[in-house]
Amino acid sequence: MPISWEPSMATGIARIDDQHRTLVDTLNYVTHTLASDMTPGDLQSILDWLGNYADSHFLFEEACMDRYRCPRAAENRAAHKQFRDLFQEVREQQAQGIDTRELGILIEQRLSNWLLDHLCGVDSALGKCVRQAAPGTH
Ligand SMILES: [Fe+2]
Repeated sequence: MPISWEPSMATGIARIDDQHRTLVDTLNYVTHTLASDMTPGDLQSILDWLGNYADSHFLFEEACMDRYRCPRAAENRAAHKQFRDLFQEVREQQAQGIDTRELGILIEQRLSNWLLDHLCGVDSALGKCVRQAAPGTH
């Protein structure tokens, strides 16, 4: 199932919410729109891009959690490391030549499921911190 964006996933920080939507859209695109039609080269390019995008998003979000003194900041960092490990597993399977359809399934099982849990779980704590902060501080 593609991930569907829900308003409850919003943190209230526009840049983070835009980045989360981009991650959702990219993973949905890879796993449901074109997985079986993509060439290995297309998948290589999109996963190269996704890895870099996720890394820069994580750094920005971790800084926001620190700024808002979010009680789940350390848990968030650990979860991001878990994503990087799952992503590495996907890249290793890709390097071993797994076919694109199977790779799409693996991406959904590992990365899409992680993202959905993460947006509804740890990242939702940031939204609570933002809402409790004084207006105009974000
Ligand atoms: Fe996060």
